[in-house]
Amino acid sequence: MCGIIGYVGRRTNAGVLVVEGLKRLEYRGYDSWGVACKTTDGIAIRKDIGKISAVDSLDFLKQSSLAMAHTRWATHGGVTQENAHPHVSCDGKIVVVLNGIIENYEALREELKTKGHTFVSTTDTEVIPHLIEEEMKTESDFAAAVRRACLRFEGRYGIVAMHADSPLLVAARTGSPLIVGVADDGYFIASDTPAFQDSTTTVQYLDDGEMVVTDGGSILFSDLQTGQERLKREIQITVSTVESQKGEYEHYMLKEIMEQKESIARAVNQDVDQIETLARAILEAQGTFLVGCGTAAKACMAAEYFFSVIAGHHVNFAPASEFKLYHRFLKPQSLLIAVSQSGETADTLEAMKIAKGKGAKVLAIVNAAGSTIAREADFTLHINAGPERAVASTKALTGQMAVLLLIAYAMIGKLPKGRTRLLETAAAINDMLNPRYTEFIEGIAEHIQESSDLYIIGKGWNYPMALESAIKIQEVSYVHAEGFAGGELKHGPIALIEKGTPCIALVGNDEVRTDIISNAIELKARGGFIIGISPVRHEVFDEWIKVPDVDTAQAIVNIIPVQVLAYFLAVKRGKDPDMPRNLAKSVTVK
Ligand code: M6R
Repeated sequence: MCGIIGYVGRRTNAGVLVVEGLKRLEYRGYDSWGVACKTTDGIAIRKDIGKISAVDSLDFLKQSSLAMAHTRWATHGGVTQENAHPHVSCDGKIVVVLNGIIENYEALREELKTKGHTFVSTTDTEVIPHLIEEEMKTESDFAAAVRRACLRFEGRYGIVAMHADSPLLVAARTGSPLIVGVADDGYFIASDTPAFQDSTTTVQYLDDGEMVVTDGGSILFSDLQTGQERLKREIQITVSTVESQKGEYEHYMLKEIMEQKESIARAVNQDVDQIETLARAILEAQGTFLVGCGTAAKACMAAEYFFSVIAGHHVNFAPASEFKLYHRFLKPQSLLIAVSQSGETADTLEAMKIAKGKGAKVLAIVNAAGSTIAREADFTLHINAGPERAVASTKALTGQMAVLLLIAYAMIGKLPKGRTRLLETAAAINDMLNPRYTEFIEGIAEHIQESSDLYIIGKGWNYPMALESAIKIQEVSYVHAEGFAGGELKHGPIALIEKGTPCIALVGNDEVRTDIISNAIELKARGGFIIGISPVRHEVFDEWIKVPDVDTAQAIVNIIPVQVLAYFLAVKRGKDPDMPRNLAKSVTVK
């Protein structure tokens, strides 16, 4: 969600460093930005609504060795310049940026008002500099005052703070990621590693309930509650500059869709012993629960079908945000499988906390190595999709499904068969995703681009893919799209179909083919324009997008043409598919 980057060190262009870092966090999605630089005259702040990339000159940034910057994704308070971060204390000396939510901000705000503090924004964040200012009346040490203030906050947050009279950059974390970048000439503190990847690939992770204080020369991690020092390892991260750039593509979304030719094969390349151990853990668990949000949740739903059809084993799926209500079914022998691209999604982390609280074990399936979910799980499988920058998740989904499918095969002792099936699927996708194919789908996008509504149907493992199709189309093209189980149509949604309404049918060459084709025929009878995504043609299709016939992996290939269609719908409708309005790449608030 919000992006944070701070720097303190020997370089004198700290302002430029943090703004450049902020631009590398743009993919996360935001609505306003701000930067603060400590100069010889105090702290200079500039903030505004809109995109930092639209600012043509950075001349406003003065020479500085201590600076921080922020991109805001509005939660509390509208998108206004006043609400953009950083926020400052009454004396203008204490400056703070936040990622997350201070849940008890209303009470704190009232208390601070009675003590004479004035507020200029409607955000929760603004209470932070004022509370630190209040604490500094009795505690002159800036870092100690930040700690005291943090102990009063409720909620999940990551904050970075600085003071006009102090050389320190101070940060604290309870729930929202903050990572220290260790450079030769100073330290960065950021919400995500791309922010400083041009300067360093050596990192130290701040864990929940910790704070960090640095003057650019030395650094001290400590427990937020006790103040006791915490020792941290330095970890080398790998950054492929090729993977993090758009290359020949106009947008990350299309690049990442095309990368599925390779990323699925990478996901399958797992340690055999580990997959077999985890497959046994699922079979032995007294209740396995799959959780994720948005697209990751659709991978979990698809896995319900994989485990059922392939392994004959029942598992439970819940959107992570609904998992709270499942706590009564959890035992120490239960297993939670948390699926996430970013590894930072607040609701998924909350589900893990609930499961761990009941003594259950947690398996994480993540893309982002070093993320909070990856570090907090008992076992972690990485899908190795490489950085996913577009807000719309594409290659992460198919990587997650590939790993889950592999586990389903391992559950019946047929891991090699699953591996072969998936590698054949990856090869078939390689053949499918050629320029002629994407141009054909672009033509369909051209044809339906003016439609205001779009419906998608599927059955079996194509049902979660119908739901996922709707998410993809909604989030990048802003066309109203809804996915249904084909059999549900006649129980209500079919009333929405008019002459020419575009309807996508996700079809496999499987036991439910006849049923879903019947549903497509029902749609056509009401005037629906049927786009069939299927290995085999059928006369009901007005347009047929051919996909390879890959048996149990059909859901993985069927979603890909919809990703391409969503992309072209967005572009043709003049939308930026990489940065959809109102959305963030990593949803770190509940
Ligand atoms: O990083 P995660 O996989 O945990 O993110 C979960 C969702 O926020 C994410 O999949 C979201 O739905 C995507 N924007 C969909 O494309």
